[in-house]
Amino acid sequence: MPCAKRFFSIILILVLIVSAATVQAASNESPARGTSAPAAANTVEPLRIADGPWLQAPSETAVTVVWRTNLRCVSEVEFRAGETEPWTRAFSAPHGLRDIGHLHAVRLEGLKPGTPYRYRVVSKEVREHKPYSATFGAEVRSDEYSFTPLNPAKTAFSFIVLNDRHEKAAPLRAALQNIRWDGVDLVVLNGDMLNYFESEPQAFNAIIAPCVEAFAKSIPFVYVRGNHEARGMLARKLMDYFPTPDGRYYYAFTHGNVRFVVLDSGEDKPDTSPEYSGLVDFDRYRAGQTEWLKAEMQSRAFRRAAFRVLLIHMPFNVIEEDKAQSYGRKYIRDRWAPLFHQAGIDLMISAHTHRVSVHPPQKGKWNYPIVIGAPNTVIRGDAAGNRLKLTVAEDNGTVRHELEIARRAPWWHRWLQMN
Ligand SMILES: [Fe+2]
Repeated sequence: MPCAKRFFSIILILVLIVSAATVQAASNESPARGTSAPAAANTVEPLRIADGPWLQAPSETAVTVVWRTNLRCVSEVEFRAGETEPWTRAFSAPHGLRDIGHLHAVRLEGLKPGTPYRYRVVSKEVREHKPYSATFGAEVRSDEYSFTPLNPAKTAFSFIVLNDRHEKAAPLRAALQNIRWDGVDLVVLNGDMLNYFESEPQAFNAIIAPCVEAFAKSIPFVYVRGNHEARGMLARKLMDYFPTPDGRYYYAFTHGNVRFVVLDSGEDKPDTSPEYSGLVDFDRYRAGQTEWLKAEMQSRAFRRAAFRVLLIHMPFNVIEEDKAQSYGRKYIRDRWAPLFHQAGIDLMISAHTHRVSVHPPQKGKWNYPIVIGAPNTVIRGDAAGNRLKLTVAEDNGTVRHELEIARRAPWWHRWLQMN
């Protein structure tokens, strides 16, 4: 064999050996957190609950349990009040078809407000699914966890608000470890927890895993969408991971003496900005939200609550020298702020600016305090009777701001004054 030919033959053999070794190594790797495993037929990995469960969309009578399995499964939740009642089963079957997949979300309904429940998630592998038959594999059942539905009659409770963590999981874990969890019934993630949503592991590594480790198996969290969560291909799937009660990012719910109103401030730039490539429609979306907000502010639950707390990622400008006044924030200032002012909001909790600040009411502009959290702050709300106390602290516990809000005059008193 000529020398050159022999040389190229040796090179070819080496390349083939290296390629085979690479393929073998890749096949031995476990799927990364939040990635889907390959089809079940060739599976060697045993079925397991890969992430969660985490609690979402709490209400007085319902909560949604979400979790992920490493293999494709059909799933259900077993739950019961207390520890001795018989187990009730719940599963998701939209349009008459039971969900099959890796990500599972089951709404538990018909719950009793303020009653402690036990639950466990159950998943069964669907190995093969043909038009007229299915082959099932192993079944996995989680440990038992507890939760308590919201309760408008509760006299005292606490809530936590975090925001703008931008996928920094280590500081988030540290902050969650420092929280005093006694009395906390609810956690709010007030937007921009992600930089954008392009791949499943982003949500699992940056948000879900730290929350599940710290609290989310037993305490629900409410995801307030930020402008960064509206970016990336998976932004359109955000609701699959963080479902809301009725499939919208704006809604309201009551716990204790507080009516929480969640708004979606959308993107910060105009819809026509080149960054969005003509793929967003936030003007019309916000206009629809305005109509919903007007109706919510007329609702009995809103008007009769002792405190009305607004959760919104982007605040309108609160200081004159605020130069970073984006299109979205101007929209909120012009269209929504007058409604907040008129409706009797008691507190607005925002994020987005990356600067912690507390703003007292300004005559003629806003008649309620505004609290803006930073990427390294934890806001704690303690509601009891006619007082709502807010503590804004850094992750290490250093208190930056404290304020206490007293209940306003009852609705009928204000109504008499207006008429
Ligand atoms: Fe933001």
